[in-house]
Amino acid sequence: MVNNLLAGKKGIIFGALDEKSIAWKTAIKCHEQGAQIVLTNAPVALRMGEINKLAEMTGAPVIGADVTNMDDLKKLFEESMNHFGGKIDFVLHSIGMSLNVRKGKHYTDMNYEWNQKTLDISAMSLHRVLRTAWDMDAISEWGSVVALSYIAAQRVFPDYNEMADAKALLENIARSFGYHYGVRNKVRVNTISQSPTRTTAGSGVKGFDAFIDYAEKMSPLGNASAEDCANYCTFLFSDLSRYITMQNLFHDGGFSFTGVSEAVIGTMSNDE
Ligand SMILES: NC(=O)c1ccc[n+]([C@@H]2O[C@H](COP(=O)([O-])OP(=O)(O)OC[C@H]3O[C@@H](n4cnc5c(N)ncnc54)[C@H](O)[C@@H]3O)[C@@H](O)[C@H]2O)c1
Repeated sequence: MVNNLLAGKKGIIFGALDEKSIAWKTAIKCHEQGAQIVLTNAPVALRMGEINKLAEMTGAPVIGADVTNMDDLKKLFEESMNHFGGKIDFVLHSIGMSLNVRKGKHYTDMNYEWNQKTLDISAMSLHRVLRTAWDMDAISEWGSVVALSYIAAQRVFPDYNEMADAKALLENIARSFGYHYGVRNKVRVNTISQSPTRTTAGSGVKGFDAFIDYAEKMSPLGNASAEDCANYCTFLFSDLSRYITMQNLFHDGGFSFTGVSEAVIGTMSNDE
């Protein structure tokens, strides 16, 4: 087991809602590996109060920010830099929300106002976060920004609905901003494309339980857990991954490159 991989590093973690959240597990790992962190979430999520437990476990302040609000983001970065007494080394963007999914609208019948909101919260927010940091020169050289994505950005998963479009946009923003931030400050920007995972956001997708079982059977290693995703984030925040940028990195037990598995074929076959 490695120790102190993030010693001396300072990071902002978006999106820890409850202990199932990928961001929650990542906050714990980063803290264990010696990082100092600031936790942030939307005011409505903070009112649930769960995050205070995580704050206590990790010695982190909690600063509310709606990720679609530029003033909130500016305040978040300012207060975080004051708290740390300097720049930020890593950021986790672990945010997703679909209004059309939540309200049961089919993809072919989407409400475009809700869709705008979905794209803003789930994808443009990465641009907003990066832009805020860029304008304030808030991220250290070789800093690392990671956002979480899903393979519906490349392949069709019908029930993932408008979130597929949001993830495609998110991954592209990571590449485009990653280019500019790399040139200017050697800041790295990547997305991790994670296996389906039982969390509040994940469970909002129709037929999620059946789908998670299917993905488990399709992946040679099985589905990657939230905890393993947290390990991967920690690695990407560390100096061991300094030349990885502008990538969409599959963290899915091999799902993305498996055409079909024997386990899945076995459930279809009528052979004796
Ligand atoms: N769970 C899965 O199956 C799965 C798979 C691949 C990728 N992901 C992605 O992982 C990320 C984290 O999701 P999770 O599964 O841990 O679920 P989660 O529900 O625990 O986290 C989603 C977070 O987004 C936050 N959020 C929503 N609107 C916001 C706003 N306006 N401002 C700030 N924060 C806001 C929520 O408060 C919540 O903390 C998301 O991007 C999700 O799409 C999840």
